[in-house]
Amino acid sequence: MHFSRISGPLLGLLSITSASPAHLQARDLTSFINTERAISLQGVKDNIGPDGAKVPGAGAGFVVASPSRVDPPYFYTWTRDSALTMKMIVDEFLFGKTELQPYIEDYIHAQAVLQTVANPSGTFLPAGLGLGEPKYQVDGTRFNGAWGRPQRDGPALRALTLITYSNYLIKNGQSKKAREIIWPIISNDLSYVGQYWNSTGFDLWEEVQGSSFFTVQNQHRALAEGAQLAKSLRVTCTGCDQAPEVLCFLQTFWNGEFIVSNINVNNGRTGLDGNSILGPISVFDIDAYCDSPTFQPCNSKSLSNFKALIDSFRTAYTINAGIPANKGVAVGRYTEDIYQGGNPWYLITTAAAEFLYDAVAQWKARHVLYVDSTSLAFFKDLYPSVTIRQYNSGNANSPFAQIMNAVTAYADSFVEIAQKYTPADGSLAEQFDRNTGAPLSAEDLTWSYAAFVTMAERRAGQYPPTWNTRRITPAPATCSGTSTPGSYVPATAAGAPNVTTSCQINIIFNVNASTYFGENIYVSGSSADLGEWEFGNAIPLGAGGYTAERPLWSVSTYLEAGKEVMYRYVREQNCGQAPVVESVNRTLVVPACEGAAVTREDAWTGPVGTSGNC
Ligand code: NOJ
Ligand code: NOJ
Repeated sequence: MHFSRISGPLLGLLSITSASPAHLQARDLTSFINTERAISLQGVKDNIGPDGAKVPGAGAGFVVASPSRVDPPYFYTWTRDSALTMKMIVDEFLFGKTELQPYIEDYIHAQAVLQTVANPSGTFLPAGLGLGEPKYQVDGTRFNGAWGRPQRDGPALRALTLITYSNYLIKNGQSKKAREIIWPIISNDLSYVGQYWNSTGFDLWEEVQGSSFFTVQNQHRALAEGAQLAKSLRVTCTGCDQAPEVLCFLQTFWNGEFIVSNINVNNGRTGLDGNSILGPISVFDIDAYCDSPTFQPCNSKSLSNFKALIDSFRTAYTINAGIPANKGVAVGRYTEDIYQGGNPWYLITTAAAEFLYDAVAQWKARHVLYVDSTSLAFFKDLYPSVTIRQYNSGNANSPFAQIMNAVTAYADSFVEIAQKYTPADGSLAEQFDRNTGAPLSAEDLTWSYAAFVTMAERRAGQYPPTWNTRRITPAPATCSGTSTPGSYVPATAAGAPNVTTSCQINIIFNVNASTYFGENIYVSGSSADLGEWEFGNAIPLGAGGYTAERPLWSVSTYLEAGKEVMYRYVREQNCGQAPVVESVNRTLVVPACEGAAVTREDAWTGPVGTSGNC
């Protein structure tokens, strides 16, 4: 710095008035990040059973989404949140935090068991349908409530987490453990992906039934990386042969300017969605070439999409008003969102930063940046004199270095937004208010914490192991919607029960029950599939056939064959009033395997509810 030649009191004066604020800010930001990273890792641990301080009752290895029990009720374990969180834990373990290994071992066991749990998405055997279930109770039992199911990202994400850990085991002389204990779990998940990738499902936000970019991108990585692991372990991967087809399909989300996050659906949205930055950071490969068709962060299409997405949020929230184009803003799921007020999310705002750190790391590792017509607008905001050309890495004053600095500063500015709206105790909720910045929705969201840690690692130059994107099988010239039938076997070596083909019988519950607007009917019963008398786990009925002539509530469900069960209907009241239960206990004998469907025609018997008029 030229100031160093100035001596005497002038130096003191100058360094106060002219010291680069950018450097000071970076130092402050670094110390914030270091503190918040530690808080975040602890926040994650607090939400994992059996010892997590904030989640009493959670089973070993189960990651609870948030301790929040109502508004929103997040005291459940989601396959997606858990897999992404455990991926962070596995990466931290690889970076040297060896004390985290017990969490990974618990997770492996918990997921092996969970794979076999029959649930409203279906059973594990014979065709793996149950693997598409998005969420379970925190003790690993089924969740019966109405939900956006199936969600097909879960098996892919879980496979990725377990593949990363298996690769570590192989490198450390424990191939046998990887092959015999962990591979059977991965194999079930890859079977599911290979069989169902071309079927629609709900997106990661659990709202849209269609084809989701995030899901497909992770599915591709799971199959491609799974094929490599199978080769090292000398086992067969059923389903991995679908990887090139999935890669082909992935290309179809690009519309020439941005990634349309949900396709095969017409929901009136633009398609700009945080989905499309969470996907690229999940498949990030430090060794990738930027023109890889896997949509890496440094890819021109990913960058064009990044700009379009971030720009959509610039005008969406009051707290983003007046922020210039070269500075980060608060980012949410998508601008049309209304869930819990449709606010910005911590995990997506830090994901935006992570995406940019990833991209910079890739350009620096390749020593080159190609700016093309697709990515030009992204760079113009940050480095106005940029042109369409190749920039080679050179000295500290070369345009390459300056562009890298500009993108890094841009990344930091997203973290500064997260910092600005993080409360003093460092706790991270799901959302923050679009007008005031105050934390909102689920408190201590595990995923918010996990996302903070991964962002902090990328900023600090720590990258997960490569998944060899340079060597993947290319997509065919013409896409086709093929499928490989899966092979599903309980992962007993990891602790899964040795379930045999379970059979279930279709039961239709019809009950005539006059209800007021705001009242709902559930069926609750003695068996696991009827929620074992827990009202919170009863099966909701629908009022689609309710008329003035017939107050019909109905549900078509599947119950375990050959069992005698007891059940009652329950009324859910409005305004926080206690539920009202029927006064009779009904008995149903579910027919044995292969038996015919049963329709129950019941009439509500017992006390009725009253609107609380709130
Ligand atoms: C709960 C889901 O978790 C959330 O993502 C969704 O927006 C709401 N349900 C509304 O469908
Ligand atoms: C709602 C989010 O939309 C979904 O992605 C997440 O899995 C659940 N909350 C639980 O955190």
